[in-house]
Amino acid sequence: MKISLASALRPVLFAALRFTFLVMLLVSSSALAAQNAANIAAGKRLYHEHCEQCHRPEARGDGAKRPALRDDTIGVISDADLEKFIRNGDRRKGMPSWSGLPLEQRQQLIAYLRSLK
Ligand code: HEC
Repeated sequence: MKISLASALRPVLFAALRFTFLVMLLVSSSALAAQNAANIAAGKRLYHEHCEQCHRPEARGDGAKRPALRDDTIGVISDADLEKFIRNGDRRKGMPSWSGLPLEQRQQLIAYLRSLK
């Protein structure tokens, strides 16, 4: 019986490919997790600087006028809609516009608020 070199090597090749794929997956998911943690930390600083005076330190709001920004209030709002609301504000009801902040910072604020649950 004659076995060609190519067919003998095939399982080894597939194992090597699977291993490479797994390593790439692990590296990219931990990079994503690190990026997310950095966004949350930056968002927290921004929140304390710009938002906590109204929405309170724990983002629980201060009653009916200034809403809590936790999962039970903003949980159903998409990231895109939240970003738009924060950008435009609602001056008539006392929420300032944050269009002066770069988009990246509004996204970091959202990452922080999402992390509060
Ligand atoms: C001067 C007070 C004030 C500051 C500062 C402020 N907000 Fe608000 N915010 C409000 C008020 C008042 C409302 C309610 C507006 C309404 O009912 O339309 C509100 C509403 C919101 C909502 C909508 C909540 C919902 O359930 O619909 C979000 C999101 C929000 N603020 C995010 C922020 C973020 C992020 C910051 C900081 C960058 C910030 N706010 C700073 C007063 C403030």
